[in-house]
Amino acid sequence: MKTNTFIVSAAALCFSISAVAKPLVIAHRGASGYLPEHTLEAKALAYAMKPDYIEQDVVMTKDDRLVVLHDHYLDRVTDVATRFPDRARSDGRYYAIDFTLAEIKTLRVTEGFKIDEQGNKVAGYPDRFPMWKSDFTVPTLEEEIELIQGLNKTLGYDIGIYPEIKAPWFHRYEGKDISIAVLNVLKQYGYDSVDDKVYLQCFDALELKRINDQLLPKMNMDLKLVQLIAYTNWNETMVYQGDVKQPYSYDWMFEPDGMEQVAIYADGIGPWKPMLVDSSSTRDNIIVKPLMASAKKAGLEVHPYTFRADKGRIPAYAKDFNDMMDIFYHQVKVDGLFTDFPDKAVEFLNRH
Ligand code: G3P
Ligand code: CA
Repeated sequence: MKTNTFIVSAAALCFSISAVAKPLVIAHRGASGYLPEHTLEAKALAYAMKPDYIEQDVVMTKDDRLVVLHDHYLDRVTDVATRFPDRARSDGRYYAIDFTLAEIKTLRVTEGFKIDEQGNKVAGYPDRFPMWKSDFTVPTLEEEIELIQGLNKTLGYDIGIYPEIKAPWFHRYEGKDISIAVLNVLKQYGYDSVDDKVYLQCFDALELKRINDQLLPKMNMDLKLVQLIAYTNWNETMVYQGDVKQPYSYDWMFEPDGMEQVAIYADGIGPWKPMLVDSSSTRDNIIVKPLMASAKKAGLEVHPYTFRADKGRIPAYAKDFNDMMDIFYHQVKVDGLFTDFPDKAVEFLNRH
């Protein structure tokens, strides 16, 4: 257990004797099942659905501003390739870090798309919001926090934020310290203690340790930290030695003492849902993987990603979205989950 959260956790334990905490709903990239991800419109709609937290993936611009975007590229969700055709890097991608905020603000945001073999832009989720309709832009982290805090004032709910520091290893290689920039904004908006409604998440274990051991104490802050978990071969986190990069190995997190090691610097984990429930499970035989028990034994909260109601996105072992909620909230007993459809998860929990 993180030393600086021991007293708070002891208090929480006493409370749990008389009340079981309601598990959390985290609106993944906003209400991204209904509106283009990470737009302020998707966040406002998510807010109205009353989740507990709304997620922000955060990357940095050329002029050191923080924008809410899932990728450190702009090309999956914007018209950057047509607006700035000569600004791609040699890999064909358009990096947010190569553009100023003013430039990014001129881009139109749409539903995420892929380019098919004929060169056509094809929506990643064909049944979601139509591509290139209406008028969406990329928000800054500050704009999004002001939206959520403003709605907390006008509607009177207390909905939290759940920012993810994206690819700190990449930002560092590009000469930028994204973690300090994010912590500065969080502090500026009043998120500086474990009692505040914020979880700070990151896939990069080395960076999360740095945040816990160095940055938070130095900035007189103490936030709830969540270690996101990937498989090594996803290349989600890279480690540079000079100009050569190689994937960070997540293998230690799946070892018997992995979760105890994570609990030294984090308060929770964000695993991919097949890391908790074996994909070979059937409706009569849900196989919960050992990661769940070892995380709970280590005192960690468990918030898996990502729960979607789109066609073909419900695992075979679940009958439908509600059945999937029942399995994860009631059988696996997760503490919260990330979903693109926060209304459905909120409604499920209200009914049960
Ligand atoms: O941060 C939780 C979940 O969002 C992790 O996946 O790739 O959607 O950021 P990703
Ligand atoms: Ca995320």
